[in-house]
Amino acid sequence: MQTIRLQLRFLLPLIAVVIATAYLVLPLVDGVTLRWFARDLDSRGAVVANALSDSVVEAIRANRPKQLEKLFERALQDERLFAIGLCSPDGQMLVRTPAFPTELNCFDALQISSRRDPRLMLNGGPVHVAMHDVIDQPHPVAVADAASDVASAPPAAGASAADNGVAVAAAAAASEATAQTAPVTVGRLVLLHDLSFIEKRSQDTRRYLVGLIAALGLVMALITMVVAQLSWRGWVLGVRALLRGEGIISPMTGSSSATSVELQPFAADLRERLRDLEDEYRRMQGPEADWSAERLQALLMTQLRGDQVIVVSNREPYIHEHGKDGRIVVKRPASGLVTAVEPVMRACSGTWIAHGSGDADREVVDANDRVAVPPGQDDYQLRRLWLTAEEEQGYYFGFANEGLWPLCHVAHVRPVFRESDWEAYKAVNQRFADAVVAEARSEDPIVLVQDYHFALLPAMVREKLPNATILTFWHIPWPNPESFGICPWRREILQGMLGSTILGFHTRFHCKNFIETVDRFLEARIEHEHSTISFREDETLVEAYPISIEWPADATIASWPSVPEARRIVRERLGLQPDTTLAVGIDRFDYTKGILERLNAVERLLEKHAEWIGRFVFVQVAAPTRSSLEEYKNFQERVERLTLRINERFGRPGYQPVHLLAQHHDSHAVNELLRAADMCIVTSLHDGMNLVSKEFVAARDDEQGVLILSRFAGAAREMTEALIVNPYHVEETADALHRAATMPAAEQRARMASLRATVREFNVFRWAGRMLTDAGRWRLKARVDARVARYRHAGDPDQRGL
Ligand code: F6P
Repeated sequence: MQTIRLQLRFLLPLIAVVIATAYLVLPLVDGVTLRWFARDLDSRGAVVANALSDSVVEAIRANRPKQLEKLFERALQDERLFAIGLCSPDGQMLVRTPAFPTELNCFDALQISSRRDPRLMLNGGPVHVAMHDVIDQPHPVAVADAASDVASAPPAAGASAADNGVAVAAAAAASEATAQTAPVTVGRLVLLHDLSFIEKRSQDTRRYLVGLIAALGLVMALITMVVAQLSWRGWVLGVRALLRGEGIISPMTGSSSATSVELQPFAADLRERLRDLEDEYRRMQGPEADWSAERLQALLMTQLRGDQVIVVSNREPYIHEHGKDGRIVVKRPASGLVTAVEPVMRACSGTWIAHGSGDADREVVDANDRVAVPPGQDDYQLRRLWLTAEEEQGYYFGFANEGLWPLCHVAHVRPVFRESDWEAYKAVNQRFADAVVAEARSEDPIVLVQDYHFALLPAMVREKLPNATILTFWHIPWPNPESFGICPWRREILQGMLGSTILGFHTRFHCKNFIETVDRFLEARIEHEHSTISFREDETLVEAYPISIEWPADATIASWPSVPEARRIVRERLGLQPDTTLAVGIDRFDYTKGILERLNAVERLLEKHAEWIGRFVFVQVAAPTRSSLEEYKNFQERVERLTLRINERFGRPGYQPVHLLAQHHDSHAVNELLRAADMCIVTSLHDGMNLVSKEFVAARDDEQGVLILSRFAGAAREMTEALIVNPYHVEETADALHRAATMPAAEQRARMASLRATVREFNVFRWAGRMLTDAGRWRLKARVDARVARYRHAGDPDQRGL
């Protein structure tokens, strides 16, 4: 493609030059040929006139107009002579052949013949007009017998042969009177030459010239193309070879020249400098422009040179399960991680390694345990890893969810640390790390490690792939050093995480907690100003990257039911009055989500504001999660009991204040609920970010609805226009519910519009883009460091080559 463009760059000007040449040259050549022919005709005319001269003089002397006519007719046998006329010295037309135009008199003929272009247009075509004197040389006196032919008047236009006779007699008389001793002009021959043959020749010449110029142009174009092709290929091959460190490639042979070894340092330098320039250019473009899937793709292709992206997470983005009818159905899990990372993977392609947890997962994978997803779109590969029940119990339920989860959330649930769980956690981390290494197609892939399930994996991958760029994102909070210190394997966990190139948390607060934890438990060098930790050989950047959602595309929004429609459908489905004020909470059934606290607030609202009884309904969607764990079972029972109590206390026939929907809802159903609601309640006791709050805002293109948000959710830092509450403060939360239920539409609009602008801008592509941009910068820094080290090593202390 590039070659074609290059050739066109040569060819187009060339074609333009050829056309311009043709335009300029053709009229010039035309003029010259015409002048040639005119001159040729003049000389031919002179010859004819000379040849006729004596006979004409004789005929005039003899006063024989008929003889003149015959004479002229004979002369006309020359194919190019069109007509002949004879003028008297005083400008009277004496004789003319039949084709001679009657409207052409002697004066006009004289005028035309003396022009530079003596052409006259007749009906039959152009003629060339030339005049030649007929000279009577001195001669002995001869008496003409012409009395009967004498006439005094000149012939009128359209005169016949008889008329010609009268005029010739007059001319003869004039001749007799003056001639004898000196040459006398007895008349002027007017020769009209047919020019149509010249036109024809001129056309032939033009055609020939156009052909010639076109042929020449074509030959030149071909030569240019071949030369350009050869030199471009040569350059491309050469530069490519240099960039690969192979030396110069001959454009003819395509093989590397013998000088490649000497050129290798130059090639490496060139390669690195090109990359630096490109990175600089990318940075100059600035991070402020909108982030989209396309921009993320472009970033990957440029700053990260299209390197392979591998994601590792416990939860898989698509779960294949057997439906009730035995057919395989695909489910999207209720997971903030999946909500955020999936659109990024769709944009980046690559491979996502995750635990295959669906009961039909094995039936759809290929021999390498891979399946292309999303179903029907096949944007990236999902590589499934199978865990035994023991592995899952120890690594997932045990260490990750009974140990690290409560440890990091500080939600008043005691963490449990068992040695066997730790062993399983280590083993499973190693299995996933091995899978990353197996999936890597280069020595420096970009590995995106997700969450607390894989604290050890970064160092394990680093060991096998030292040049990999490992970005670990911790989706849950990081506690203070004292809280974290109760983990028996705190040092191992920190060391494992410090295998990352970049370690991301949702907030600066969590970054600070992590750095302080490392400071407390490891011998590491911490650069607070740059937020970096150097541990052993490796350096890790610890940075805050608030996660987000994909902002819905216009087409997606168009496919949603309208808000009034969604309100109607949901209220009908739940058996609510059309004017019911509806509050929704959408969570995994997890003790960190503050579901008990929000139920307490609903109860308090109904106590404080009895006017809401019968008019206010709270719907809690609670997707089952980790249900085999005791803490979760207990928690679910407590929520069910509290729900029952509130419903018993305030319920009426046809009115149930709390609806607990403890089932998985797909994204369509969740969206419908969010659009139907008057408010969304997010009261997490501790949450890394909480994406439901952002999904609510994205769902409300009508700019109505109120978000009640826990100050302990990471989202509260960005979404300040929400009603921010302390979920432990029942009174405050109940008041927020009342305020939301009575908030004027204009205030709702102002708050919602502002929230929407924030979430649209700080979308998930920005989250991934910022991390990947930092990764690109990090890689650049590593390259420069390596270059400096090389020059030092090569004994170039001045580092002139840098
Ligand atoms: O909050 C941490 C997290 O990993 C989320 O990213 C995700 O929503 C949830 O936990 C997933 O839980 P699980 O995969 O155990 O159901």
